[in-house]
This record gives sequence, structure tokens and C-alpha cells, in this order.
Amino acid sequence: VIAVVCLNPAIDVTFQVDRLRPGASHRVRHTIQRAGGKGINVARVLHQLGVPVVLTGLVGGRRGEAITAELSAVGVTPQLIEVAAETRRTVTVVDGPAGATVFNEPGPPIGTVEWSHFVAAFESVAAAADAVVLTGSLPPGVPPDAYAQLTGRAHACGVPVLLDAEGIPLRSALPARPDLVKPNEHEAAPFATGYATALDGLLEAGARNAIVSLGADGLLAAVDDRRYRVRLDEDVAGNPTGAGDALAAVLARGMIGTPEWELTLREAVAVAGAAVAVPHAGEYDADTADRLRPLVRVQEV
Ligand SMILES: Nc1ncnc2c1ncn2[C@@H]1O[C@H](COP(=O)(O)OP(=O)(O)OP(=O)(O)O)[C@@H](O)[C@H]1O
Ligand SMILES: [Mg+2]
Repeated sequence: VIAVVCLNPAIDVTFQVDRLRPGASHRVRHTIQRAGGKGINVARVLHQLGVPVVLTGLVGGRRGEAITAELSAVGVTPQLIEVAAETRRTVTVVDGPAGATVFNEPGPPIGTVEWSHFVAAFESVAAAADAVVLTGSLPPGVPPDAYAQLTGRAHACGVPVLLDAEGIPLRSALPARPDLVKPNEHEAAPFATGYATALDGLLEAGARNAIVSLGADGLLAAVDDRRYRVRLDEDVAGNPTGAGDALAAVLARGMIGTPEWELTLREAVAVAGAAVAVPHAGEYDADTADRLRPLVRVQEV
């Protein structure tokens, strides 16, 4: 079983309007509401891949209850800790000309006692898992080195950790030596120095293995002392939001036992490309994945 951590889940609300104009009032054509957050996307894709998955994290209020119910309904086992404040929303307004305009709430304030309660619960979830995925933003009140703390606890149970984060939560976790980190190009950029690439910078700072995803250009990987450039011979049209989460799901599955990185990288890029073909995050199109698999080029560099 893979344990996925989602510390700052959300109810994602999407409004469809004809044309978004600031200052005007709009008729909403269509509303979609679903549980969101990077950890939830990763968990959904793992479930679609047939991997048993537990989702742990922090939820509060009615929105928290809705998230728990939705996860159970889709086959992801929720093991969420309840906090006093209400889970956040994200609001996306989609219109024809502008595409998606996104509003992200920061998340509920988390108390110190709530955080310790979570860490204790995480230890038992991690102890029962074959791999742990740490992904997404931190709600206010959670310590900035949260991912360092959780990586340490997972390692104490002998469980490998995949970390997909950015900024201080990513940087501060690297000395705890996560087994794999997967920032995108933009998130990895601060780790490049005058003489070292971002990939080298991530390894120097403590990551055991590192992958930098490059959107439609595929990825660069430094795994088991080898370097790979992996790309698709095709630019998939669709919604790239959540492609990185689909990539992370396949990578996490590949970390169980003795990793076979070339196979894992090929499959990850096929599934991530197939996630672009689905209009929402947290799902990939299985037929597209079948079609893309032979189009993935894995090159040792
Ligand atoms: N247009 C595309 N066509 C084919 N594959 C894509 C495309 N966009 C992304 N991918 C695949 O998805 C992977 C992850 O994409 P990207 O680097 O955009 O991740 P990300 O920014 O972390 O995304 P998110 O955090 O929204 O899930 C890439 O390495 C690539 O394999
Ligand atoms: Mg990402």
C-alpha cells in the first residue's frame, strides 16, 4: 500500500462562464465541485493504476467531511486527521477566451497540538506502507520543515519517500534525504548555481534521487548514479494541470522494492502524457497511455 500525504486538501469549485470580465456580474453556465489538492490527485491516479492507497492529511468542517466521503466513494482509503478550522476551497473560473483563472485560499490555520497529533498518526500510517508520497502546499501553522519531519519518521520505519514540493518545504526537507524528489523546471530552478544544474543542486542538498519534469518536453532524471533524458515523441493536447501528479504516482509505485528505473520512467511519462488528455486532474486516459508507451524515448546521458 502507498500512503499519500495531503496536508492542505481543498474543495475545488469550477465555474464555467462565457466570458470573464473583472467588475462585471456573470451567469454561471456550469459548476463542478470535487475534492482537490496534489495529494488527492496522486492518490486517485494510484488507485486507477490498481495500487492500494491510503490518503492521510488534515481536514476540517463540512468541506472536510465531503472530502472524506468522496475519497471513500472512489476507492481511496481516507485516514485523515480532523482539525478545528474549515478546509479551504479553490475557485477556478473557466471561460472561452482566457481559459482558467484560479483563486487559491491559503488553507485553515493548524494548531501546534493538531500538528503533533498528525505526526503521531502519520507514523502508524507510514509503518504500514510500502512507500510514502509527500506532496503539495502546507496550510498556515504547519512548520515549514514539515516534510523534513515526515521524511525522518518514514525513514525510521524503513519506508521510502517521494517528495513533490517547492520553495522552503522542499529545500528544508532535502537534508532529511528523501529517496526521490520531483519538482518541475520552475520549482527546481532555485537549486541551480553558477556551476551546477538544478538536478545536481538537488542531489548536493541531500536528495538521493532527483527528477526534474519539463512539461511537454518530458523529464531529466538522476537515479541510481545514472542520468536519463526521457521524452515523448508527441505533444499531447489537453489540460496539463495534474500531469506532474500522475508522473509522481507512477514514480512512487516504482520505488517499492528494488526500483527498475528505466521501466518506471518510461511508464511514468506515458501515464503523465495520458493525464493531459483528461480535462481534470487526478485521472489518465488508459487508451492514450497504451498508445503513448511505444512513443517514449528513454536516453541515458
Ligand atoms: N503537453 C504534454 N504532452 C505530453 N506530456 C506532457 C505534457 N505536459 C506534461 N507532460 C508530462 O507530464 C510530466 C509532468 O509535467 P509538468 O512538468 O508540467 O509537471 P508539473 O508542473 O509538476 O504539473 P502539476 O504539478 O500540475 O501536476 C512531464 O514530465 C511530461 O512527461
Ligand atoms: Mg507539480
